[in-house]
Amino acid sequence: MEYKIALIPGDGIGPEIVGEAKKILDRVAEISGHTFTYEKLLMGGCSIDAYGEPLTAETLAKAKASDAVLLGAVGGKVGNSRWYDVAPSLRPEAGLLAIRKGLELFANVRPARLMPQLADACPLKDSVSGNAFDIVIMRELTGGLYFGTHKTETVGGLRTATDVLVYNEEEIRRIAVRAFEVAQKRRKHVTSVDKANVLDSSRLWRSVVAEVAKDYPDVQLDNMLVDNCAMQLVMNPGQFDVILTENMFGDILSDEASMITGSIGMLPSASLGSGSLGLYEPTHGSAPDIAGTNTANPIATILSAAMLLRYSLSLDKEADLVERSVDHVLDAGYRTPDIWSEGCTKVSTTQMGDLITDAMLKEEY
Ligand code: IPM
Ligand code: MG
Repeated sequence: MEYKIALIPGDGIGPEIVGEAKKILDRVAEISGHTFTYEKLLMGGCSIDAYGEPLTAETLAKAKASDAVLLGAVGGKVGNSRWYDVAPSLRPEAGLLAIRKGLELFANVRPARLMPQLADACPLKDSVSGNAFDIVIMRELTGGLYFGTHKTETVGGLRTATDVLVYNEEEIRRIAVRAFEVAQKRRKHVTSVDKANVLDSSRLWRSVVAEVAKDYPDVQLDNMLVDNCAMQLVMNPGQFDVILTENMFGDILSDEASMITGSIGMLPSASLGSGSLGLYEPTHGSAPDIAGTNTANPIATILSAAMLLRYSLSLDKEADLVERSVDHVLDAGYRTPDIWSEGCTKVSTTQMGDLITDAMLKEEY
């Protein structure tokens, strides 16, 4: 089969980590006999520099016409006035929001798993809660506060800002259905997170999720308030299987969940819609401080490429191969600086990519 993959390296370390993930995809093509054709697209700061806007209509159309999109990261230092002293809709991050919305990718899947090889990096390792955990956050991605009206005006002589939080029941239902489907393939437990003691949108969320739950009698549903969830994630992350939540809460909780794995450089993500087209990106950002130093950890992007193989191209066997090869290289003690510890071998971005690409030839396919 032939597949069209759009590559959006983006800014900062983006081009380096996407370059390593492409090596992996090339190796998959070689081993499997499938053909991948790539189209490189600009988004974020580099698109602002080239075209004056973070996402052009042409880039969006090309992404839409592909089978899957692999993204590095967008954005630069906040002090970068060329990108940031402009209207919010023209900043690098606006490109990311626009492509998610433009491709109707409403379901953001963010796994946060304590990798046994990196258990020492977990900041909770010395507490009772440093037990193994394996969570998937299902974050609603195209609604809520992010996409309501935003405005700043003067009211009664005072500068006043408004951000509107809107959800309709259909937007809630479709992400809830996805969360229950994911839970059915895992440990069959959904924790829906909201702020139903304060917000109407959360009360609607809770009632729609309860309706959806009726179609999945084998899955246990619990509701949890978001402030409590933030606390429980630190106290006892092992209690969670699938966390289902709205856009803003999901943004915050997914950073927290990734941090407690001790290895944010390791975590992939998928943004999915109703068809097979998806956008895959590491959970971490563009790390402009280390851009160009060949020290960034490419594993989150490589694991995102594995999710791309699985969810958009239905190449499950190939996705497994990539994931096993990552495990193999970690088992052998190779680490980029962000996850390095005593006794391990420190390697660069490109060395890590090469090691995993090589391991794919040794693993059973
Ligand atoms: C994320 C990021 C984005 C978000 C930013 C860069 C707009 O934090 O993907 O989690 O808030 O969704
Ligand atoms: Mg975030």
